[in-house]
Parts: sequence; C-alpha cells; structure tokens
Amino acid sequence: MANLKFPDNFWWGSATSGPQSEGRFNKKNRNIFDYWFDTDKKAFFGGVGPDVASNFYNSFREDIKLYKEIGLNSLRTSIQWTRLIKNFETGEVDEDGVRFYTEVIEEFEKNGITLVMNLFHFDMPIELQEKYGGWESKHVVELFVKYARKAFELFGDKVKYWTTFNEPIVPVEAQYMYQFHYPLIVDVKKAMQVLYNTALASAKAIEEFRKTELLKKDGEIGIILNLTPSYPRSENEEDIKAAKISDAFFNNSFLDPAIYGKFPELLIEILEKDGALWESTEEELKIIAENTVDFLGVNYYQPRRIKARETEFDISKNGWLPDKYFENYDMPGKRMNIYRGWEIYPQAIYDIAKNIQDNYKNIKWFISENGMGVEGEEKFKNEEGIIEDDYRIDFFREHLTHLHRAIEEGSNCFGYHTWTPIDCWSWTNAYKNRYGFISVDLPTQIKTIKKSGYWIKKVSETNEIDG
Ligand code: NOJ
Repeated sequence: MANLKFPDNFWWGSATSGPQSEGRFNKKNRNIFDYWFDTDKKAFFGGVGPDVASNFYNSFREDIKLYKEIGLNSLRTSIQWTRLIKNFETGEVDEDGVRFYTEVIEEFEKNGITLVMNLFHFDMPIELQEKYGGWESKHVVELFVKYARKAFELFGDKVKYWTTFNEPIVPVEAQYMYQFHYPLIVDVKKAMQVLYNTALASAKAIEEFRKTELLKKDGEIGIILNLTPSYPRSENEEDIKAAKISDAFFNNSFLDPAIYGKFPELLIEILEKDGALWESTEEELKIIAENTVDFLGVNYYQPRRIKARETEFDISKNGWLPDKYFENYDMPGKRMNIYRGWEIYPQAIYDIAKNIQDNYKNIKWFISENGMGVEGEEKFKNEEGIIEDDYRIDFFREHLTHLHRAIEEGSNCFGYHTWTPIDCWSWTNAYKNRYGFISVDLPTQIKTIKKSGYWIKKVSETNEIDG
C-alpha cells in the first residue's frame, strides 16, 4: 500500500500530566490523590502512589532529551495547581514551583518541542475539596481563575498553546457518580453542578486569558475532551434515542459549550424533568456563551456501545445514565485489546473528525490522546531489553489511517498526540497498564525506548505512515 502523507507542520507528539509524571518532590500542597494515597494506600494498584511517578521533577532534562530522541515535535503536560500555588485563596505562588515550571518550559524551547500547557488534570487541591466541595462550589471556580491568571502572567510569553481542562467529564463521573476517585460521592445533583461549574471555570479562564497583555498577540487556548462516540445496538427508535442521550451527556455536555457556548438541549430537558439541573445565572451563561475555544483537543480510546434501558428509570438511584439507561453490549466482530480489555475501534476517529467538520464549525483540532494500555508489558522484552510493542505500532497505524482519510476529506486536524511519552502513573491503576513509547523500570527509574519509539521517530521525520 502507498504511504500516507500528513499535512505540513503536523504535530507528532505525546501527552502526559503533572500529577502523573512529576512525583511529589518539593510540592507543598496536596491534591485529592496525594491525600487519598496518604490515607488509604490499598486504593492504588500495588500500593503505588504518586510520590515518585516517573520522576519528571528531577529528571525533566533527560526526559525531554528522550522526547527529542524519538522525534516528538510537540508535547502536552500540565501545571499542578498544588505545585504552583502556595495559598489558594490569595493566589500567592510557591517560588520553587515557579522555578520548576520556568525551567521545564525553557528546556522544551531549547529542544524545539512545541509545548501545550494544560491547567487542570483531575488534580483538585484537597484543601478546596474538603473546605468547599471542590467543583461543587462557585468560590472554587473563582480560585481556579486566579490560579489560571497567575499561570498566564508567569508563562504566557513562552507558552503559546494552552488548555483549560483535560477530560472534564471524568471528575463528574469518577468523583460524583461511580466512586472511582476521592471523595467517592454518589449524587447526581452534585455531579451535574460540578459539570456546569467546570464548564463555567473553563470559560472564565478563557476570558482571563484573552485579557492577559502578553497573550494578546498570538496565544491560543483550547480544551481537551475525551470523546467516546455512542453507537446504538440497532436501528430501533429506543436504541437510537439511548445513543443520543449518551452522546448528550458523555460528549456534548462539554463539546457544545466549548464550541457553541451553550449546553445540549437534550441534556437540559432530561435534567430539568428530573430535578437535577444545575444552578446558573444569566451573567454566567453569558460568559460561557462569549468564551468559546480557539482549538480543540480530542482524546480517543474506545467507542460506547449503547442499548436502550431495560429497567425502570429512577434518578435517585444515580448511575442513571450509563449504568441503568443503557449498557455496553457485545456484538459480533467486536475487537478487544486483550492486554487491557478495552474495545479497539479505529473507525471512530474518522467519525469524530467528520462530526467536528460537519457539526462543530470544522474547528481546528488535534488528537490529544490515543493509545494502547498493556498489562505485563515486560514479557515483550527482547534480548537487548527493548520492549517489542508491535501491537501498539499496529494500533497507531490503524487509527492514523482513518484520521488521514478524514483529513483528505477536509477535516481541520493539525496533529496527533499519543498517550504517553514515558510510562507514567495512572491514578488508582498506578503502573498497571503501560502506554509509553519509553518504558520505565520503577525501582531504578531506568528509561528505555520501546520499538514504537523508533517507529514514531521515523513517522515524525518523514511526516508519513506506511498505510
Ligand atoms: C486519559 C487521561 O487524560 C489520563 O490521565 C489517563 O492516564 C489516560 N487517559 C489513560 O487511561
């Protein structure tokens, strides 16, 4: 087959986050994961917490050199609110946090790697969670904006691309619906307020960004959303309706405000009927309407297979959207990642691209995460100690083939970032599933390029894949 060429200046990169890579070294404040680990180690796979992660705090120079060595021309990470800010109420910064991020940003610049800086990656300060209920509170929205302004003022002259949130639907689900993340609350009403407040915080941070002198010239700001297209089990009206509700909640609840400045009508209708609609003001809705994004990042891993609800709907029991209203179903030909258990469906990347092109103003966007987690990856090590992850190369190649088709048809996609450059700590799963181009041996912190790392280098250098 012919090779597939990508547009000029295409981003070939990868993504990580502060809490998953830095380690807690010298960090004065704790986020919900730091606190949770300190109080309940058993909640984390193998009892491994965020203390060391992949040691980016101490080894960022060597790590960035490795990024460069595997040809990455762009990279996303995040600032930790709990590292940059000493006093959340006043916005006073921590000097070591400022020094650290300044040096990191300079190192990216020196190596010619375009940096995308994200502001929030699930890492609510525990102090704000305990005192105000985190995103349940509009006061916390204001404190986030204060932090965002500090970050823009400090680093806005050096970082051109910013994002407000990574996967903002995850804290809604994980903290308030399914008990995956601290504080493990089950409360739909609170969950929906958290959803709204987060969208508001994003819009307010964008408003602040556009006011910042330094950024007025050429800075750009976006948001990173995990999109999981919902495919109905059948063409039956009930299944199709279920898929629409699924999309309204899981995908469009943040996509619509980001691009159009308003929430999906279908979601509002359902929540209103069930008394779970958030509290909003005219003034806030105006801010959301006026502060949409410059670009979009899309994390894509797997689709959602949807069927109509089979039991009585009862909002007070929570879990009403995915657990009760519809469930993932099995279907003939479904492919699974046997090393982790998620479905592999590369065509969805094309569907996402077309949806953005046809229904979301063909806004410029990039794949901000795509990747394959593998448990027990050590077993693929060859004699030289290199992990031969051909399954991952195939995974990327297939997804990129579908992305390429969409670009040929006019999708405004400017880049592809994988998750993640170096195996990193992944919340309660800790180091269970490895995703990196580069492996890390935890006891020694020795980092070794995998076969996929050599593959992406070639892709980046030639700007094409063998299709
Ligand atoms: C999405 C998240 O942004 C990241 O934090 C997580 O570790 C990866 N997906 C892998 O599940």
